[in-house]
Amino acid sequence: LPVLILWAAIGYLLGSVPFGVVLTRLMGLGNLRDIGSGNIGATNVLRTGNKGAAAATLLLDGAKGAVAVLLARAMAGEDAAQLAGLMAFLGHIFPVWLGFRGGKGVATFLGLMLALSWPVGVALCLTWLIVAYAGRISSLAAISAAAASTIWIMVLVQGQMFGLGVILTLLVFWTHRANISRLRAGTEPKIGQK
Ligand code: G3P
Repeated sequence: LPVLILWAAIGYLLGSVPFGVVLTRLMGLGNLRDIGSGNIGATNVLRTGNKGAAAATLLLDGAKGAVAVLLARAMAGEDAAQLAGLMAFLGHIFPVWLGFRGGKGVATFLGLMLALSWPVGVALCLTWLIVAYAGRISSLAAISAAAASTIWIMVLVQGQMFGLGVILTLLVFWTHRANISRLRAGTEPKIGQK
């Protein structure tokens, strides 16, 4: 048990690094909280107009989930890997550094899933990309990928990770509650729109 607590803490700390906030500040692009949705993720970094910063945010927010999983798996096994991935996700949405007011967790969700099971991760990235390409709305792609995750898990890895998939799906819907209201009202902006 102490080993699991250690990996939970490491996962949380990795996940809590708000790369979007750090990169926009370092690159002089302004305060992300005052831009667009005010969210700390890549979709909102793109609203600064800087595609490189948005891509770097996506990659780094994804990588922190993947690194948490891969480190925990290498040193403490599969249960620790799942826990570290979940905690990295929670670190991103409740970072101590930002008064626990963090992001929506989509990049971290994709990164941790890729590391836990690359077929599931690839299926989720493809789901995100297809919905994003068709609808041009980041949040719709995110909740679609989350909703599809339990199905992809059942199909591709026969139910291991199923509990984790359900928890992450519910959390992604919860972090997107304002986006879901805007989607229903027809006011959610398209990708890249301010
Ligand atoms: O990944 C977050 C995305 O789904 C929505 O971001 O800034 O449009 O609320 P945003």
